[in-house]
Amino acid sequence: MKKENYYITTPIYYATDDPHVGHALATVSADVIARYHELSGKNVYFLVGTDEYGTRVSLKAQSEKKDPQQFVDDVAKRYQEIWKTLNIKNSIFMRTTNPKHKDVVSKFIQKVYDKGDIYKAEYEGYYCVGCEEFKKDKDLIEGHCQIHRPDQTIFQREENYFFKLKNYAPEVLKLIESDEYKIIPPSKKNEIATKLRQAIDDNELGDLSISRENLDWGIRVPWDNTHAIYVWFDALLNYYSALKIDNKFEEFWPPQLHIVGKDISWFHSVIWLSMLLSAEEKLPKKLFVTSFFTIDGQKMSKSLGNVISPDDLVTKYGIDGTRYLLATSLPYLDDGDIGYSKFDERYRSDLSNDLGNLVSRVSALCEKKGYVAEGDREIPEFIGKVEEFYESCKIHEVIQEVNKLTSDLNTRVTEEKIWEKEKEEFSKVIGAIINGIRRVAYNLKPVMPETTENILATFEPNKKVQKAKVLFPRLDDD
Ligand code: MSP
Repeated sequence: MKKENYYITTPIYYATDDPHVGHALATVSADVIARYHELSGKNVYFLVGTDEYGTRVSLKAQSEKKDPQQFVDDVAKRYQEIWKTLNIKNSIFMRTTNPKHKDVVSKFIQKVYDKGDIYKAEYEGYYCVGCEEFKKDKDLIEGHCQIHRPDQTIFQREENYFFKLKNYAPEVLKLIESDEYKIIPPSKKNEIATKLRQAIDDNELGDLSISRENLDWGIRVPWDNTHAIYVWFDALLNYYSALKIDNKFEEFWPPQLHIVGKDISWFHSVIWLSMLLSAEEKLPKKLFVTSFFTIDGQKMSKSLGNVISPDDLVTKYGIDGTRYLLATSLPYLDDGDIGYSKFDERYRSDLSNDLGNLVSRVSALCEKKGYVAEGDREIPEFIGKVEEFYESCKIHEVIQEVNKLTSDLNTRVTEEKIWEKEKEEFSKVIGAIINGIRRVAYNLKPVMPETTENILATFEPNKKVQKAKVLFPRLDDD
């Protein structure tokens, strides 16, 4: 039977700085979902990458006195390294400075222009370089953006090309409200739909400026090379151009799932769908909008010195430990809080004390009794509500569900005092417990690919079980 195709994406991060825990959180979570779909028998294409044009990147390169291309090459390399370290199984690392991306973007925008959906007009107003977004007066506090430094909001008056966003807004609203473009969780769908409906009703939704006159670092507008294409127009198209570049378009378009933070959900719904409607392309199916986190109650920032780097997490908790901690921390409905004390606690309780201890004590008992493992190496089934949770991207609930099974198995070992059982009775009970462990391992495969493989290898059928090596070493300060 032909496998179902599944195309999943993370945002492509601005190539301005080293990757931080926020990027890792979103990317590891996407990787977990991608691996789940692969294990469920789908043909998966998983996109990650970097967003390399625009004012924000250009200013950062200037401030470091580097040539912009050299600068983004270096940043992209660091992203690639950290994704490799974290065992991210991406199909492509998309970079918007790839010349082939430029060709695809040029063709796309030309098509939209030829259709009559782009016109030239004067733009006057504020632009936040941090958001790479034009701001309305009501979005500003004391004349600047609420998220980024005040000096990042600049006043601009120039000729721009505009995309007729307004023409597509009613159709986009319908697609969102009817769930044809499904936005999860529902609270985020409602926020976007309400904002859009209001903007349409109040006649407040303007067309979108999609070019900049005084920007060197960007893809040229094909019919007017004095203008560069607005970075979001070019960046969103990375999801589309990647498949063209990789000759996978027929197979994988349209995306089944975009995963984005709430800061960029408007771009990935209203703007992105309008662009695709204009170009008469098939539309993506689902958007998962994540919330934000704080670190020990504070916003993560360099000046506060509380930035957590993925490399430091790996040094402390190992690769799979880090993947587990990040996957369980993705803020789902509301903003969440993370931090080393929370990570330590969860590492100790869920990993060292629960899962690690279960595998260690069961394998040690088997070794002592000279037990030869029986049954199948793997039990390839997802338990309980796991599939349903994955469909709604509730990774934390998937993990909770599996953890219950782990705890039950630990309780069973203790309550049944298996170590006191004689041969036949021991074989029977331990066989069931090992099958339970195999089930846990399979269900956690997307989260901890290497550790679960080690667990399965410990109970390799027809072999004498040896005590497993420590899966989750004690933390230094224990
Ligand atoms: N380049 C754009 C995306 C273009 S996609 C076509 C961009 N880049 S970004 O580097 O700012 O990354 C934004 C994404 O990083 C967020 O949407 C989110 O997925 C992730 N996060 C960054 N900081 C985060 C938090 N503090 N909390 C949760 N996610 C965070 O926007």
